[in-house]
Amino acid sequence: MFGIHQLNHSQSNSSSFLSNELALLLNASPQTVVDWLTDAHHTFEHETIPRIEQDFLNLIRLFPNTPSLPVIFNLFLKFQMEMKLHMEIEEQKIYPVFLQQVTLESNREFNELMHSHEGSEPFLEEIIALLERSSFSENPFFQILLSRLKQFENDLRDHAWVEDHVLLLPY
Ligand SMILES: [Fe+2]
Ligand SMILES: [Fe+2]
Repeated sequence: MFGIHQLNHSQSNSSSFLSNELALLLNASPQTVVDWLTDAHHTFEHETIPRIEQDFLNLIRLFPNTPSLPVIFNLFLKFQMEMKLHMEIEEQKIYPVFLQQVTLESNREFNELMHSHEGSEPFLEEIIALLERSSFSENPFFQILLSRLKQFENDLRDHAWVEDHVLLLPY
């Protein structure tokens, strides 16, 4: 479970897009928070993920005799498919409930459901670790892919932090 160390992580990480906006989001209206999260989903789906896929394809073209690369790429494809499903559920089922700000018997349960981000990040962490162990780690195209994946991991961690700590119903 996330704790105060996560807040420190976000504040000390200058490359994190959350660090400048966290204080604002903590005091923002529910609609502002949901808009911010939905915009991030849009960026992940339409900018970050396609760029990473393109980086993978470039690398596979450059290193056609490296069978591990398509295998790692497949892991990423699986990851992004699960992530898109996750974002769809949030936008269709979770964010609307948060916007209603109703106090239900089930609010505590709903909040606990929101605290369920542990599963997906280790997946991306694993992909990064596999790539770092590969033989072409000095290649500049590889370096671009790696830094994009790491930035994505940071952004997702911050995104999940906001969902877990700001997107809470009263109970
Ligand atoms: Fe999300
Ligand atoms: Fe999420």
